[in-house]
Amino acid sequence: MLYHNLLVALATIATSPFVHAATSQSYTWKNVKIGGGGGFVPGIVFNPSEKGVAYARTDIGGAYKLNADDTWAPLLDFADDARWNYWGVDALATDPVQPNRLYLATGMYTNSWDPNNGQILISTDYGKSFTASPLPFKLGGNMPGRGMGERLAVDPNNNGILFFGARSGRGLWKSTNFGANWTQVASFPSTGTYIPDPSDTNGLNGDKVGIAWVTFDKASGTSGKATPRIFVGVANKGANNVFVTNDGGSTWTAVAGQNTVYLPHKGVISPAERVLYVSYADGAGPYDGTLGSIYKYNITSSTWTDITPVSGGDLYFGFGGVAVDLQHPGTIMVAALNSWWPDGQIFRSTNGGSTWTPFWSWTSYPDMAKYYSYSNTLAPWLGPNYVDVTAGNKQIGWMMESLEIDPFDSNHWLYGTGATIYGGRDLTKWDSARNVTLKSLADGIEETSIQGLIAPPTGPPLLSAVGDLGGFVHNSLSAPPSTGFINPTWATSSDIDYAGNKPTNIVRVGTGDSSTGKQVALSTDSGATWSQDYGAPDNASGGKVAFSADGDTVLWRTGSSGVLVSQFTNPFTAVPSLPSNAAIASDKKNNSVFYGASGSTFYLSTDGGKTFSAKGKLGSSTSAAKVVVNPGVTGDVWVSTDIGLFHSTDSGTSFTTITGVKQAWAIALGAPAKTGGYPALYAAANIDGIGYYRSDDAGVTWVKVNDAAHGFGSASANVLTADLRTYGRVYIGTNGRGIFYGDIAGAAPTSTPPTPTSSTSTSTRTSTTLAPTTTITTRTTSSTSTRSSTSSAPTPTAVSPGYGQCGGGGWTGPTVCASGFTCSVQNPYYWQCVPA
Ligand SMILES: *[C@@H]1O[C@H](CO)[C@@H](O)[C@H](O)[C@H]1NC(C)=O
Ligand SMILES: *[C@@H]1O[C@H](CO)[C@@H](O)[C@H](O)[C@H]1NC(C)=O
Ligand SMILES: *[C@@H]1O[C@H](CO)[C@@H](O)[C@H](O)[C@H]1NC(C)=O
Ligand SMILES: *[C@@H]1O[C@H](CO)[C@@H](O)[C@H](O)[C@H]1NC(C)=O
Ligand SMILES: *[C@@H]1O[C@H](CO)[C@@H](O)[C@H](O)[C@H]1NC(C)=O
Repeated sequence: MLYHNLLVALATIATSPFVHAATSQSYTWKNVKIGGGGGFVPGIVFNPSEKGVAYARTDIGGAYKLNADDTWAPLLDFADDARWNYWGVDALATDPVQPNRLYLATGMYTNSWDPNNGQILISTDYGKSFTASPLPFKLGGNMPGRGMGERLAVDPNNNGILFFGARSGRGLWKSTNFGANWTQVASFPSTGTYIPDPSDTNGLNGDKVGIAWVTFDKASGTSGKATPRIFVGVANKGANNVFVTNDGGSTWTAVAGQNTVYLPHKGVISPAERVLYVSYADGAGPYDGTLGSIYKYNITSSTWTDITPVSGGDLYFGFGGVAVDLQHPGTIMVAALNSWWPDGQIFRSTNGGSTWTPFWSWTSYPDMAKYYSYSNTLAPWLGPNYVDVTAGNKQIGWMMESLEIDPFDSNHWLYGTGATIYGGRDLTKWDSARNVTLKSLADGIEETSIQGLIAPPTGPPLLSAVGDLGGFVHNSLSAPPSTGFINPTWATSSDIDYAGNKPTNIVRVGTGDSSTGKQVALSTDSGATWSQDYGAPDNASGGKVAFSADGDTVLWRTGSSGVLVSQFTNPFTAVPSLPSNAAIASDKKNNSVFYGASGSTFYLSTDGGKTFSAKGKLGSSTSAAKVVVNPGVTGDVWVSTDIGLFHSTDSGTSFTTITGVKQAWAIALGAPAKTGGYPALYAAANIDGIGYYRSDDAGVTWVKVNDAAHGFGSASANVLTADLRTYGRVYIGTNGRGIFYGDIAGAAPTSTPPTPTSSTSTSTRTSTTLAPTTTITTRTTSSTSTRSSTSSAPTPTAVSPGYGQCGGGGWTGPTVCASGFTCSVQNPYYWQCVPA
C-alpha cells in the first residue's frame, strides 16, 4: 500500500510515453505552520443565533471558520488561478435565521490590478462549499476601508433578504433570494464620496470607499416579514454618513443630529438597549486614523450622544472595532483603530459608555499598567519580542477594526489586528480582577504572502522570505517558529537563496522598509543568525537574489537599481550586461557560474556574475519567470516563460521546448523518484489547465499534484521549492495563504538520497525521441555507478528527517530519526522514520 500510488504513476508513465495529458496524483496538502495569522484580519463575525458559529475574514487569504478548540479552518482553499480574487474578502455575513447559511463578498481590487468583477459566495453548509453569484462591479477585499463593516448583512426577520454596500460609487444593492440575484437600491441617497487619496488615480487609494456597513434593527420588525428599520453607514466626510429606512429600504433619510466630521467604521445595535453604537475615524483605515469618536444613537428618542472614551491630548487615534455584550446590555467595548504608540488601546464600559476603563494606562510615565497578561504560545515569534518594523514593538496590536464579544459567552472575546487575532476566555475579569488573559488565538490562520522559499539539502527543511514578517527558519513544518529573521530585521524579505556547495550559507534581501539601509544579509548557520552585507549600497532594495555555489558571491537583481554583484562582501557593482528585469539563478556546483533570463534570451556568466553573455533563445517568449538549476549538474537549467518551459543541458547554449506546457511560472527540482534518477521537476504551469504538476522524467510526462480543494490562488504570484531529501514533497508559497507542503497521499513520503553531486561521469545519457517535437535528454544513472562521493552520501552523524530513510541493506546514512519519529523496518532494504 505504501508505494501503491507511486507504482501506478510510474506505470502510467511507462505505458503511455506519447500521451502528454497529465494524470492526477493524490497529494496530502498541509500548511507549513507559522501560526498566529501573520496578517490583517479586518473582520470577525459571530452568528447571533447558534452558539460557537463564528468566522474571520482576511484581506488576501480568504475566510476561516472558528473551531470549538479555538483553532480556525480555512474555507476558500479551493480558489485557484481563475478565482484568485476570492481570497480578498470584503465582507462576511452569517445568517441569524438559518445559521448554516454564510455569505462572503469577494474581490481583491477595484482598480486594474484585479481584472475580475466581484461576487457573493453563498454557502448553505457553514462554508464547506459555495456557489458564486456574480456582481456587475469590482470589490476591494485588500483596499482601504476593508475593515469598515460589515457591508453585507442578512435580514434577521426574513433571511432571504440581504443588503450589500458597494465601493466605487456603485451604491447599495439588495437580494431577495438568498443572495442569488442582486439589484441596486435606486432610492438610496448616497454612494459615498470619500476617496483616501484622489491623486492616486490608478493606485490603491484612488477609489471611493463607498458604503461602509449595513445594520438591521431586528426589533423593528417581526419574524417572517422584511425588517423595516435598517441603518447604513457611508464613507462620507463632512456630509451625512448614517442613513436609515423605516420601510425595509423603500425610502431613506439621513439620521438627524449625526456627526458628519468623520467616517463611520462600524454601526452595532445593542438590541436590549435600543441603541446603535457607531465608531468614527478620520481615515478609512486600516493604517490611518488620528482622530475619531464614538457615538450612541438612542433609537427610541432619536438622539445622539458623544461617548468618546478620551479627549484632548489623549485622543490621537480614530476608532475601529465596536463590541456589545448581548448577555449584559450596556457592556460595550471599542478599539482604537491605530494607537501606534506605545501600543494599541481598547476601552470597556459597563454602563453604555458613560464611563470607560482602558486596557492599559500610564502609571508614572514611561511605565504602563497593563491590565492583562500576555500569551503568544501559539505563535512565539509574534511577541512580546516581535519587532514589527512599521508598527514597533506591540502586544495589543494595530489596525483594530474588528472587536467581538461572543453573543453566548461574555468571557469569550476576539479582535483582529494587523498581524493576528487576539482575545481570550476570561473577559469579565476586566471588571473584577481588572486583569484578563490576552492570547494570540489565530491558530490555523495562515495568511502570509510568501516571496521566496528554499529547501536546502542539509539543515532545516525550509526557509522562507515573507512579506510583512521578514521570514523564518522552519525547523519544523508543523510547529510555529520561535522567531522571525532578526538582526537585520526587515518587514519584508523579497528573496532568499543558499550556496550549493555550502548549503548552510544563506543570503536574503529585503525591500527597504526598515531604518537599516543595507538590504542584503548573510548567514553561515542556516539562517539562525545573520550579518549585514556591508558591501550592499544603501539605496538598493527588493528583487531577487542568487548565491554562488561556494557562498562568496551575491548576485542581486534589485527592485529598481538594476543587477548588482559582490564577491567577499566587497561593494556591489553594476552588471549592465544583464537586463534589470532578468530572472536569475546561481549554479549549485560551480562558484563562477550564474544564469539569467529575460524576454526570449538566456544569459550565462562564467566570471562570478561580473559579465553575462547572451546564449540560447527561449522560443518567442516575452517574459521569463524563473530559472532553476539541477543542484547536482552544472549547466542543467530550466526556464519557465509565458509560452512554456525550456530545458538546457549545455548551460543555455541550446534549449529544448517541453511539449505540452503552454505557460509556466514557478518551477523547482527535488529529490528524484529513484536513487540517482533525474530530479523530480515541479511546475506551476498550464499543462492540462493551470495547476501544479510534477514530472519524474524531466518533463516528458506530468502528473497533476493539486486537486479541486487546493487551488493556491494566483499561480503567477506563487513560489515553489521542492524537497531534495524527500521524494514527492513540494512547497508552495502563496500570496495570502501562507506556505503549503504536499506529499504523495497514501504513502509515507519516501526519502531518496540527494541527486548526484558530481556531474555525469558515472551516468550514461540516453536520448529519447518518443514525442514528435520533443528531444528530451534524460539521464539514467548506470547500474555500475558507485556512490563513493563522500559529498553525496548522507552524513553518518546526521538525523534522518520524518519519513526519511534510517536503515536497510547498504544504507550508510543516518540511523537516528528526528524527534517525533521512530525508525521502522519497511523491508530489508528500506527502513523509514515514521511518526512515533
Ligand atoms: C439569478 O442568479 C442565477 C445564479 O447566479 C442566474 O443563473 C440567473 O440567471 C439570475 N437571474 C437573473 C434574472 O439575473
Ligand atoms: C433612550 O431614550 C429613552 C427616551 O428618552 C429613554 O427612556 C431611554 O432610557 C434611553 N435609552 C438609553 C439606553 O439611554
Ligand atoms: C496582570 O497580570 C499580569 C500577569 O500576572 C501582570 O504581569 C500584570 O502586571 C497584571 N497587571 C496589573 C495592572 O496588575
Ligand atoms: C546608489 O548609490 C551608489 C553609491 O553607493 C551610486 O553610485 C548610485 O548612483 C546610487 N544609485 C541611485 C539610483 O541613486
Ligand atoms: C567552473 O566554470 C568555469 C567557467 O565555465 C570553468 O572555467 C571552471 O573550470 C569550472 N570549475 C569547475 C571546478 O568545474
